[in-house]
Amino acid sequence: MNLSVKHRLVILISGSGSNLQAIIDAIAAGDLNASIELVISNKADVKGLSRAQKANIKTLTLDHSPYPSREAFDLDLIKSIDKARPDTVVLAGFMRILTAEFVSHYRGKLLNIHPSLLPKYQGLNTHQRAIDAGDRKHGCSIHFVSEELDGGPVIAQAEVSIAGNDDANSLSEKVQQQEYQLYPLVLEWRAQERLHWTSEGAELDGNAISESGIQLGHLPAN
Ligand code: GRF
Repeated sequence: MNLSVKHRLVILISGSGSNLQAIIDAIAAGDLNASIELVISNKADVKGLSRAQKANIKTLTLDHSPYPSREAFDLDLIKSIDKARPDTVVLAGFMRILTAEFVSHYRGKLLNIHPSLLPKYQGLNTHQRAIDAGDRKHGCSIHFVSEELDGGPVIAQAEVSIAGNDDANSLSEKVQQQEYQLYPLVLEWRAQERLHWTSEGAELDGNAISESGIQLGHLPAN
């Protein structure tokens, strides 16, 4: 592994981009040996795009709405991403369901962050669902992306406790603080070429990762 060659990231967003910001900050702090080659948003004028521009990162808005089909949009998305020659494609609040063709094109280098302890609460409204279920623990997961929505092998999870007075907003804030620690950490494993999805499943340092991912507990803030 040549450490002078940076791991190339392309990051896909649809909104605020606070996870993108955490990745930008981790690179600036020297905690993540990667370069963000391109940030793509399917929505114009979102805060994530200005965060990227402020950090002098190339951006592209690719509006999905004029496309006749999901397949046609994803094909253009693939073209734009591939021009940037990514080692890892990072979904960070990208609110689009991806086609099987897109997912298989990036198999093993496409990561997503999901705000629940998968396999619990795939899909939306994860915080309210955890509260409604009376859970004491909640958190976030990073997984390799497969054809199944919020499926694919889990890589790692970070946790928060649910307090009696938590509502979906307060819980979302707590979980996001964990996301900001977790994504850079997992991406650094990719950058160090320690993390792969092989025919045996997700592996870190050649060892199989268990089905619920590596349990990191509650990660301390920087
Ligand atoms: C995050 O909470 C992530 O778990 C979910 O979308 C949210 C994106 O937030 N997939 P941001 O755009 O990074 O602020």
